[in-house]
This record gives sequence, C-alpha cells and structure tokens, in this order.
Amino acid sequence: MDWNDEIAKYDKFMQDEILNSGKIPRHIAIIMDGNGRWAVERNLSRTAGHREGIESVRDIVKASSQLGIKYLTLYAFSIENWKRPITEVRVLMTLLEHFLKVELDELHQNNVRVKAIGKLNSLPKSVQKLLRKAIEFTADNTGLTLTLALSYSGRWDILRAVQIIAFDVKRGKVSPEDLTSEKFASYLQTKDLPEPDLLIRTSGEMRLSNFLLWELAYSEIFVTKKYWPEFRRQDLYEAISDYIKRERRFGKTSAQVASEEKESINDSYIQKVINAFKSK
Ligand code: IPE
Ligand code: IPE
Ligand code: MG
Repeated sequence: MDWNDEIAKYDKFMQDEILNSGKIPRHIAIIMDGNGRWAVERNLSRTAGHREGIESVRDIVKASSQLGIKYLTLYAFSIENWKRPITEVRVLMTLLEHFLKVELDELHQNNVRVKAIGKLNSLPKSVQKLLRKAIEFTADNTGLTLTLALSYSGRWDILRAVQIIAFDVKRGKVSPEDLTSEKFASYLQTKDLPEPDLLIRTSGEMRLSNFLLWELAYSEIFVTKKYWPEFRRQDLYEAISDYIKRERRFGKTSAQVASEEKESINDSYIQKVINAFKSK
C-alpha cells in the first residue's frame, strides 16, 4: 500500500501547513514512553500497552514518511530495560519480531530504509536475523531512514567509541591531537545520521534515560503528557508545529540568528536570479 495514496483531508491540511513553513525537522528522535501506565490505567496488562504502542509506531512512521522527514529514530528498548522482569522482556522481543516480520514489505514499498543502533548482539538470535534481513532488504531505499534503537544506551555507545579510539591511537591510526568533535562522532553508531533537530518524549517524564547523549546536544525538546499508545499523527503535527516556532540559536544571540537568516534568504534569492539568467 502506497502511503501517499491515503492522506486524509485533515492530514493534508496539517501536512501542508508544516511543509509551507520550510522549517521541517530533518531528524526526529522519539523516546516512546508510557506503554505500561497507559495499560494499567485501563486495567489492562502492560503487554496490552506495548501492543497498542506498536499502532502508534505504525502511524508515526507513516506520517513522517508522508511529510518527507528524512530521519526518524525510535528508542524502543534500552540497555537498562534488560533489568525488567523476564516475562516482560520476552513479550517485548516477541512483539519486535512480529513487527519486523509483518511490516517489512510495506516499509520497503514506501521507500523506508531500516537501520538499528545499540548492542544488537545481545538481542535474541531470531530478532537479530530479522533485523539483518530488514536492514539489507531496505538498504537502497531513499525515503525515510527509520532507525530503531534496540538494547541501546548513549553512555554505552560513547564508551564503545572511546575504546575504539584508544585502540586506533595505540595502532597509530589516529593521533590524539586530531580528535575533533566530527572525528569523535564518526566513531559513534549514529555516524551516518545527522543530529536530531527535535526530540519528543511521551508520558511527561523530563529525562533523557540514556538516549543519544552526544547527539542531542542542541536538539529542541518536546515533552507531552500523553502516553506513547495514545500518541498519534496529530500529536506529531503538534510537536513539529511547536518546533517550527522555536528559535535555534546554537549559542549565538537572537540578533545574530536573525541577520544570518536574512542573509541566507538574500543568498537564495540571488541564486534564483542567477539560475533564471543562466537558463535563458
Ligand atoms: C515504553 O513504555 C516502552 C519501553 C521502555 C520498552 P514503558 O514500558 O516504559 O511504560 P511505563 O513508562 O512503565 O509506563
Ligand atoms: C526509556 O523509557 C527507554 C525507552 C523508551 C526504550 P524507560 O521507561 O526505560 O525510562 P525510565 O526508566 O523511566 O527513565
Ligand atoms: Mg517507561
């Protein structure tokens, strides 16, 4: 099914508003939290919450792809989550397996490229196999890059990078003086992803829970009280609309940001005029 064939009227309106702003985030990262509480408040099992959470994943992936967002990174399972009761961990792994099996064709048809970050070799073999298949199968797709953070933790990735760098220094492949921010980032598992522009966390918690610690340095943060199973495309539009209104200063002053924006508008106008002349 082609997702672009099924955009409802309201969606089209909201999506056009966002697109017309010209400020669409390139990379959105989401901490999908609150499945358990959503279920408990409804007298359901935590499993039911995780199951409903998958419906949110479906909707958010689809809406992101329709919007033309280039990167979506979903925190699905942290290294710390291994400490949960074994029965819950098993359910989560089974649901992940099911998701990869059932969704792969549709993701592929819609040009989605699947990636994964995290300590993947600690996942059950069956999950690893399906994950590898999904990554290989969609490797040449050019639409949305959907990165699943699985058995992931930010500190784990940073520490892993430091270890590899230390080895590379020992082997004479890198010298300590050459270690810049860019060089360091090239050792992280997120090396092929731009830094997230927008971080969304559901369920109202004001913490990072060990997600993308290096990469989120200048991301805009949007926290909603809604639990993940109730977070759907309208909520995504709300988060993006809020993001669009923000001023990203990266340490500079408001006046500097405004004048840079003006310059870049001028530049693009001049470029348009030059191109028009060239094409004559
Ligand atoms: C998020 O929901 C899913 C995972 C962390 C795997 P939770 O399971 O953390 O739900 P709460 O936070 O306990 O409500
Ligand atoms: C964060 O949620 C991890 C994921 C969403 C995968 P947690 O529920 O594990 O976070 P804490 O324990 O409340 O910080
Ligand atoms: Mg939680």
